[in-house]
Amino acid sequence: MSEFRSFDRMFRLDGKVALVTGGSRGIGLHTATAFLLAGAKKVFISARKHEGDQGIDQAVEKLNKLGVSGKAVGIAANVADTDDIARLVKEVQKTDNKLDILVCNAGATWGGPFEPTPDWSSKKVLDLNVRGVFNLARLFTPLLEMAGTRQDPSRIVIVSSTAGVTVPHVGDHGTIMYSVSKAAAHHLSRQLAVELGPRNITTNTVAPGFFPSKLANGLIEILGGEKELNDWNPRKRLGEPEDIAGVMVYLCSRAGSYVNGEDICVDGGVRYAQGRQSKL
Ligand SMILES: NC(=O)c1ccc[n+]([C@@H]2O[C@H](COP(=O)([O-])OP(=O)(O)OC[C@H]3O[C@@H](n4cnc5c(N)ncnc54)[C@H](OP(=O)(O)O)[C@@H]3O)[C@@H](O)[C@H]2O)c1
Repeated sequence: MSEFRSFDRMFRLDGKVALVTGGSRGIGLHTATAFLLAGAKKVFISARKHEGDQGIDQAVEKLNKLGVSGKAVGIAANVADTDDIARLVKEVQKTDNKLDILVCNAGATWGGPFEPTPDWSSKKVLDLNVRGVFNLARLFTPLLEMAGTRQDPSRIVIVSSTAGVTVPHVGDHGTIMYSVSKAAAHHLSRQLAVELGPRNITTNTVAPGFFPSKLANGLIEILGGEKELNDWNPRKRLGEPEDIAGVMVYLCSRAGSYVNGEDICVDGGVRYAQGRQSKL
């Protein structure tokens, strides 16, 4: 028989403190929910806006009604802005002197034809999806280092996209710089894996396919709608909240503690599907 230490806690996050950027809705909110349900003590969620039906406050309210002992705390910050990231670190430090899990999830996209691409759109996408993620990792490293041990490292998870490993959209609705930013995020994660691994911090990338969200819904419609995309996908559906929950809890619990520098695509395998199976 193999001797596993605490197999029953393999996928648990009891006592952990996490920060999820872009945690007010979509994939970030799925992640924050999963962390609290898996036993996390506290989950900070951050986004730019407190108010409104997509803002931080409504998300914190929902998270704090999950009926678990862990608590959600909202902090507004623009994580494309380095000064604001530094302020976010200070806000976390007001109550916590260590951070176990950092999920760099907030992201921006822009789509349109190639030649008229406005320069601001490339700057916006790269500032948030690449430079912002680099600075989040860099400025939170002291707090992450305080939490990590050889046996149980602290975790950085970067939410990238399958757009980082494919060429998904060109032409009128092309997303070239988004795709480039996500490819950069993959390589940033490998760099951080080697830079921070010895300091007991692992870094991995989660690359979703289509999950209905404010960011994705427009593109889902342009591509023919949910039914069309379901048909195209080998699993015959789009991503669901549980699909994100599973991979996030895996990477951030004991189960994922020796995984470092990996990209995990969560797309039902659709990036490998060159044709439409239904038409074969
Ligand atoms: N949904 C998909 O199909 C899909 C597929 C592949 C990859 N992804 C990636 O998954 C991540 C989350 O996307 P999503 O679909 O969940 O999008 P979403 O529902 O639009 O949520 C985006 C979140 O990021 C926050 N945010 C945006 N800009 C920010 C900034 N500058 N500073 C701080 N927070 C900011 C938003 O809140 P505020 O607007 O209030 O700031 C919101 O909480 C992104 O990195 C995206 O590229 C999504």
